[in-house]
This record gives sequence, structure tokens and C-alpha cells, in this order.
Amino acid sequence: MKRIEHIGIAVSDIEKSNKVFKKIFGKENFKEERVESEGVITSFFQIGTNKIELVAAINIDSPISKYLQGNREGMHHIAFDVEDIEKEMDRIKQEGIRLLNDIPKKGADNKLICFLHPKDTNGVLIELCQEIKQ
Ligand code: CO
Repeated sequence: MKRIEHIGIAVSDIEKSNKVFKKIFGKENFKEERVESEGVITSFFQIGTNKIELVAAINIDSPISKYLQGNREGMHHIAFDVEDIEKEMDRIKQEGIRLLNDIPKKGADNKLICFLHPKDTNGVLIELCQEIKQ
């Protein structure tokens, strides 16, 4: 793992939250992207070298919609940048930590992603992400 790539915040209304975080950060988001396959809309803010991802559900089957049925809005996941996602997934699996998907999925912001099972990570939802090289 190379570094924290972004911190994900679950929100119920992306437009409302964009306005809140625009006030907090003093700048606009640089990207908004729907990921239909995940049922989410994402909004990214750049703070120096760090990124914050707001993530909201676009349908009731979305993992975010399920999450917000049992949790408040707020800190949702920490994403780590990896060089080779399949290699990291194998390594982590061999450590006995379950993954939420066996094959990397296409995420927002030109990334391949995989989530670790929060029951195996002290309750912290961890996302691995690898930049898709063109
Ligand atoms: Co994320």
C-alpha cells in the first residue's frame, strides 16, 4: 500500500452535502461521477494532496442506501492507493481477511477497487484502489 488515496463520507443528499463541504473547504468539488454499477453518485474535493469523496445512493439497492438505514451520515471508508490491486487482494486474502469482491470492480475516478470485509478489519471499511493505466 502506498498512501491514503481518499476518505469516503456517506451522505444522503449529494447536492446539499456539496454545499456544506464547499463552505468547509472553501472550494468547489473537482469532479462528480455516477457509478451505475455500484448505485452511487460520488463527489470529490481536493485538499492539498488529499482527497475527500462524498458518496450518496442513487437507488435503494445501493450499498450506501443500506448503510444509511443503519448508520448516520458520516465517515464511511478509507481508501488506500495500491500499485497492483490483484497482488494486494491475494496477499490480504492469504492473511485470512475476507474481501467483499473477488475480482476488482470499476470504481469512480478511473480506479479499480476492492473493499475488505469490515468484520475482519476492526469495523473499518477499507477500500483498495489502483489507478487504471490507459
Ligand atoms: Co472510495
